Amino acid sequence: MSKNAISNSVIRRLPRYYRFLGELENNGYIRISSRELAEKMGLTASQIRQDFNCFGEFGQQGYGYNVSGLKMEIGKILGLDKQTPMILLGAGNLGRAIAAHLDFKNRGFDLIGIFDTNPDLIGMEIGELKINSIDQLEAFCNEHHPEAAILCIPKEAAAVQAEKLISYGVHAFWNFTHYDLRLEHKDVAVENVHLGDSLTTLSYCINSNDNK
Ligand code: NAI
Repeated sequence: MSKNAISNSVIRRLPRYYRFLGELENNGYIRISSRELAEKMGLTASQIRQDFNCFGEFGQQGYGYNVSGLKMEIGKILGLDKQTPMILLGAGNLGRAIAAHLDFKNRGFDLIGIFDTNPDLIGMEIGELKINSIDQLEAFCNEHHPEAAILCIPKEAAAVQAEKLISYGVHAFWNFTHYDLRLEHKDVAVENVHLGDSLTTLSYCINSNDNK
């Protein structure tokens, strides 16, 4: 089944399935039933069966799922069998933390360049990469063809930089700024991340428990 036909809510659950299956694989599991997987993940067995049925027949009645096989298939759907070249704009507090601590390779990306406008940061190293001047962005993109960019720059700079990046061939954004890229460019892939929204959701959970 094509990716387009899989609902967004199923896609949102896939990284979690992938992570759990990886842990099971590391713990020596060969097969697992939908019931056991559901118990471990706090889901229902029918939800799991429905989700996995979206992209093929992985389970066998009575035998459960082959852990490594299912992990590999989900990895393929998530594009983790490839390494999309990615760059980071903005090596401030958030950008540095992301560049230093995220395991890009196991998430389907290869972080190949970091750019900032602050002359004090240019030349500093984060892991194996040096921070480049934003002036080098176009030449870098022409040579290395990054397909994805992480935006950790001030909101006011986001629109201009995003336009430039799109004109240089970037077609996917992991956007931490509060600029809504998707409004302008329906054809680029955008994943907005708002830690504040997640924190607000936690607040809701606390308060809805209080109200019970
Ligand atoms: P920061 O001020 O520490 O870092 C911003 C960096 O961007 C600076 O190093 C600055 O020199 C650089 N910069 C400015 N204009 C640039 C340009 N045109 N091109 C390249 N680099 C440029 O800020 P911080 O705390 O790292 O936050 C970065 C962005 O992420 C802000 O827009 C902030 O609002 C947002 N943010 C979003 C969160 C979320 O959950 N979505 C959480 C925290 C921050």
